[in-house]
Amino acid sequence: MDNLKSNKNNDNVNIETMTQDDIRHLIQNLQTYQIELELKNEELRNIRSELTKEKLKKDEAFFKELTENSSDIIVVVNKTGIITYVSSSVERLLGYKPEEMIGQNAYKYIHPADIPRSILDFGKAILTKDHSVTNSFHILHKDGSVRTLEGFGKNLLDNPDISGFIMNIHDISERKQVESSLTTSKRILQKLRERLQTVVDKERTRIAREIHDDVGQSLTGLSMDLALLRRELDKPDTKSVRSLIGVKLNEMNCAVSLLVGRVREIATQLRLEVLDDLGLSAAIRWKIREFDERTQIRYRFKSNPRDISLNSKQNSFLFRIFMEAMTNIVRHAKAQNVEIILEQKPLLLKFQIIDDGKGSPKKILESSKSLGIYSMKEYAKTIGARLNISSHLRKGTSITVELPLEKPKHD
Ligand SMILES: Nc1ncnc2c1ncn2[C@@H]1O[C@H](COP(=O)(O)OP(=O)(O)OP(=O)(O)O)[C@@H](O)[C@H]1O
Ligand SMILES: [Mg+2]
Repeated sequence: MDNLKSNKNNDNVNIETMTQDDIRHLIQNLQTYQIELELKNEELRNIRSELTKEKLKKDEAFFKELTENSSDIIVVVNKTGIITYVSSSVERLLGYKPEEMIGQNAYKYIHPADIPRSILDFGKAILTKDHSVTNSFHILHKDGSVRTLEGFGKNLLDNPDISGFIMNIHDISERKQVESSLTTSKRILQKLRERLQTVVDKERTRIAREIHDDVGQSLTGLSMDLALLRRELDKPDTKSVRSLIGVKLNEMNCAVSLLVGRVREIATQLRLEVLDDLGLSAAIRWKIREFDERTQIRYRFKSNPRDISLNSKQNSFLFRIFMEAMTNIVRHAKAQNVEIILEQKPLLLKFQIIDDGKGSPKKILESSKSLGIYSMKEYAKTIGARLNISSHLRKGTSITVELPLEKPKHD
């Protein structure tokens, strides 16, 4: 080799002056050099192959980590729907191990109701090269539950590296659940709004009728009395005329007092803020008198202490709960006795409305179609109270509201 090098480096090698021995020697050197070169080449090839293997290994580990820890599932299916690859994240999301799914038809995992649509969509998708689709469908979890998944798929059947339809799928069950409860809440809210409007309209009509019937009639009576007095005053001033005027004035005085009371009552009904003036106990007492006049039910009301002091929001929502409960008793309970108890403890207000009517199954009380009980629960929630309804067939229903009270502030 050194020889060769020396020969190689010697630009003035003159073959004509070389002996045969010199030429043989040169050829031997060249052969040795060629072998050494080939060995070096082999060594280099090996190093390159090792480096490629290592890079591939690293890439594979990187890819595995990505797919395993991704919240998505990556699936490849062939053109007949057979799963040829599925990322191991599938176990976390659907409970199956990848080896359980590979080789199976993907339709096996789709909810039966979604299969016709999926076949149609997949059929369309594999007809177009590079075609991408986004779809959502229901998949059966290994535990039997149904999950809602959304997937993005791409037709790579003609791509020799993939030769399949590749899908990137993620679980949207929670999102769907939130969407559906939002829709339900919106529906209930709309119903509540309509109910409120109906209640307001009914109340308006009732009060208008009361003003017309009670106040109107009394005023007409008074106006007739005034006309009579006017006529009497034109007559000669005799003892009998004076006595009649005296009687009429007394009657009118009574009618005016009654009228003032009636107008005050109507005004009271119009202003719910009266609750703040009267307090909850007095407002309940006043309403019970009204129910007492209209129904055959016997009412008993206990308030301890006699007048309970709450803030305006608490007064208003407890009063609304009371009104919903009383309306239900009159409409549904067929009760003979109703007991209403307001009890103030150091840090708690307990409010109970108990009837001895026919009771109701829990399923009916909790039906999402009616709004009374739903509103009661919402009212209780608004003021941070707990509302519990217990009902027993033929024994009655009792509603208990427990409102935590703040500690009184000491100076
Ligand atoms: N005190 C009660 N005794 C017996 N059944 C009752 C009583 N309160 C409620 N229910 C039953 O529970 C159901 C639900 O009551 P809820 O107040 O929610 O609705 P509703 O009174 O039917 O209609 P609305 O939405 O107009 O209030 C009633 O239809 C009735 O069957
Ligand atoms: Mg009701």
